[in-house]
Amino acid sequence: MKAILVCGSPRIHGNTQKILEIAEETLKKEKIDTELVLLSGATVKPCTGCLTCKRTRDMTCAIKDDDFHEIFGKMVKADALIVGSPVYFGSATSQTTSLLHRAGYVARNNNNPFSGKIGAPVVVARRAGHNFTYAQLVFFYTISGMTVVGSTYWNVAFGKNPGEVLDDEEGVQTVKKCMENTAALLKCRAALQQRD
Ligand SMILES: Cc1cc2nc3c(=O)[nH]c(=O)nc-3n(C[C@H](O)[C@H](O)[C@H](O)COP(=O)(O)O)c2cc1C
Repeated sequence: MKAILVCGSPRIHGNTQKILEIAEETLKKEKIDTELVLLSGATVKPCTGCLTCKRTRDMTCAIKDDDFHEIFGKMVKADALIVGSPVYFGSATSQTTSLLHRAGYVARNNNNPFSGKIGAPVVVARRAGHNFTYAQLVFFYTISGMTVVGSTYWNVAFGKNPGEVLDDEEGVQTVKKCMENTAALLKCRAALQQRD
């Protein structure tokens, strides 16, 4: 059972990374394998809408000179996908959406390998626009046939300067609980797969 956590912030050691590290720690405690992927250290160009993936249907994107395929491969192999993004003008970052647009379209044209996986959105904001960003991530999961995991509240945490998100105790607790629920669901999924 493996969960991949994708940090869509362009800022290394920023708030989104910090809260995803807490999420990762919680999953590890529940004996789930994890990998944190930082888009800050990667280049994922935006989708050009060329529709090559629709024509070739070979699980690849026409853009080959960036880090997309390596990250996409990890997303496809994982059982759970936790995407975290800061809010930028009421939206997920361009790093996050570039990845999701290309991953989503390549997947859709290749029998949708995301279908049946588990997803949880994590959103970090200074003040507002978080609901839209949260919805963006949920939209990705649900159009991909994934099961979205809940918590005691929506996975939104507040902070502006790096590290401030850790002061949002309720936000941190919400994300932790969501990861416990994710782990529980992963274990159910694994048990079902073994039975089949
Ligand atoms: C270009 C830009 C746009 C932003 N837009 C918003 C916004 O619409 N709403 C908000 O609450 N915070 C906004 N913020 C603040 C970030 O969401 C906040 O600082 C967050 O903690 C950054 O996460 P990070 O440290 O992981 O990069 C914006 C920040 C930047 C740089």
